[in-house]
Amino acid sequence: MADETTPEQKREDEELESQETSGSVTRRQFLIGAGVGAVVGAAGVGGVLAFAKPTPATPQVTQAQTAPIPQTGQQQIVPIVSDLPATMRRVTLDIDNKKYDVIVDVRMSLWEVMTYHLGLASSNLGCDRAQCGACTILVDGRAMNGCTLLAARLGRGQKIVTVDGISKGAQLDQLHPVAQAFHQEGGYQCGICTRGFIMSTYALLSKNPNPTEDDVREALAGNICRCSEYPKIYESVFLAAEKMRKKA
Ligand code: FES
Ligand code: FES
Repeated sequence: MADETTPEQKREDEELESQETSGSVTRRQFLIGAGVGAVVGAAGVGGVLAFAKPTPATPQVTQAQTAPIPQTGQQQIVPIVSDLPATMRRVTLDIDNKKYDVIVDVRMSLWEVMTYHLGLASSNLGCDRAQCGACTILVDGRAMNGCTLLAARLGRGQKIVTVDGISKGAQLDQLHPVAQAFHQEGGYQCGICTRGFIMSTYALLSKNPNPTEDDVREALAGNICRCSEYPKIYESVFLAAEKMRKKA
């Protein structure tokens, strides 16, 4: 995946890191140096808890983020400059050629954000641990697992494409040739894996319109069908290749 980090984005990353490290003193070192009693005391006057335990709640500017921080000896604390808690990022996701401005928890996967925040149902969840490929989407043309990509890292102009983005509509004649081929050959049974297989096939055929069986095996190696429909899935891929060659 291309990393097109702008100076502004680098600054954002540095800010996140600066919340972990203040000068040469880490947050952990600060807490140890100050002692638990000092932390509790500081919490009483407002402020330190914002550093000690940022929560993924709805972001808002709080007094705790701007109030003076009590100093302990020579240790310096860099105030939080973002208007968001440390665990939240504001990103613009480009999904199927639509831009979505969204505030995400930095620990959330792309699949979670697409499904729970944006209400998109264009990829399935199987294992949720990069093993089955049910959640496959494309990022800048590469097939990737949406369940293990962090959404907060995808707001830098990367093009995300799902199975909905390659077709013109839900009717058979509006489907992309790859999706049509899976339908025609019956390359599915329960369908949990199908969107992932379609997207991996689409990624393969976009670069290699005339794949060998080995090419197909390699391209689909990250996709698993628990219904074991592999023979029909392979027939679907070769029919899709034929359709795409005719279309080209
Ligand atoms: S759900 Fe993402 S790889 Fe299985
Ligand atoms: S069709 Fe059921 S998992 Fe593939």
